[in-house]
Amino acid sequence: SRVGTLLVTRYLDPFSQLSHEAFVSRLVATLAVFAMGMLFSLYLAWSFSRPLQDLTEAARKVAAGDLSVQVSPAGGDEIASLSRTFNEMVQRLRENRLLEERLHFAERSTALGRLASGVAHEIRNPLNFINLSIDHMRQRLGPGEAERRADFDRILGNMKSEISRLNRLVGDFLSFGKPMRLDPRPCALDEVLKEVASLVEHKARDQAIAIALEAEPGLPRIVADPELLKTCFLNLMINALDAMPAGGLLGLAVRRREGEHEEIEIEVRDTGRGMTAEEIRSAFEPYFSTKDTGLGLGLALTHKIIADHGGSIVLESEPGKGTTVRLRLPRRARAVAPEAPGRPAVPAAAR
Ligand SMILES: Nc1ncnc2c1ncn2[C@@H]1O[C@H](COP(=O)(O)OP(=O)(O)OP(=O)(O)O)[C@@H](O)[C@H]1O
Ligand SMILES: [Mg+2]
Repeated sequence: SRVGTLLVTRYLDPFSQLSHEAFVSRLVATLAVFAMGMLFSLYLAWSFSRPLQDLTEAARKVAAGDLSVQVSPAGGDEIASLSRTFNEMVQRLRENRLLEERLHFAERSTALGRLASGVAHEIRNPLNFINLSIDHMRQRLGPGEAERRADFDRILGNMKSEISRLNRLVGDFLSFGKPMRLDPRPCALDEVLKEVASLVEHKARDQAIAIALEAEPGLPRIVADPELLKTCFLNLMINALDAMPAGGLLGLAVRRREGEHEEIEIEVRDTGRGMTAEEIRSAFEPYFSTKDTGLGLGLALTHKIIADHGGSIVLESEPGKGTTVRLRLPRRARAVAPEAPGRPAVPAAAR
């Protein structure tokens, strides 16, 4: 039988609040773990795909002919090893291209040498004959009156200087295919550079070009062939003047470069039209010229002379910004075996 009724009442409000809070914190924790998982997988995907993207980009550049690319071997083991193999492949391609260029240079030089001896022989003999005849006319056939005599002498003088220019051209042409015979003796490069600068002074003035010459004081003399070096400096200065038809600045400098072997550096700088990467690549090839009257032998010959002195030549240029040519010569000229000279380094600024 029922004795009584016990009524137990429990309010569920705090419990539902507790359960709600627990639900919210579980949800937040789950979302946080989920977001971290997402971020981590994104990071993993990025760290795997980035080296691959770099490699794809580098391969595209190589296919376009730029062999200066290198990729850093980042990423997992396989990707790093793929990057290293890629770098080795590009290095091989670079070596092959250099070999091809040397071969090409050697072929052209040999063919040019054979042609040069024939042409030089045929041209030099009549030139010498004309030169002698001019001397003869000057001595024996000149007019008596002073005024006409001056005219006569001037015209013959011009003819003689043109003949000597032609003779020089033939000489350049002839010496191209032959091993250069150096006549090394101690010479002061600053003096040689000044002497050549004075030869182009007149032409520079006519073209509104200022010449600035900086020579480091107390430069040691070097053992080299001053006559051949004059040819080099003159070629470079004439090129610089040709590049500045509307005026500008021709900067000349000669300085010491300390290093493993002491070298002297000569710089010929202009503010002229500059050169495209393609022009820089071909500039040292015999017969490459962008000028109507150019033979395209100036730089090829300069390169050969400097290489025969055991030196190096570097060309830096940008279209519209001017060109800088740097020659480096060892203090004592090495007698370098005549071989196909390598292409001079083309610095990054010029690529
Ligand atoms: N300072 C320079 N500025 C711009 N272009 C240059 C410069 N020096 C050389 N070049 C380019 O390089 C080419 C080759 O020069 P290089 O001196 O060998 O031949 P060239 O001057 O054309 O003829 P030459 O046989 O009379 O010297 C030039 O035609 C010119 O396009
Ligand atoms: Mg020239």
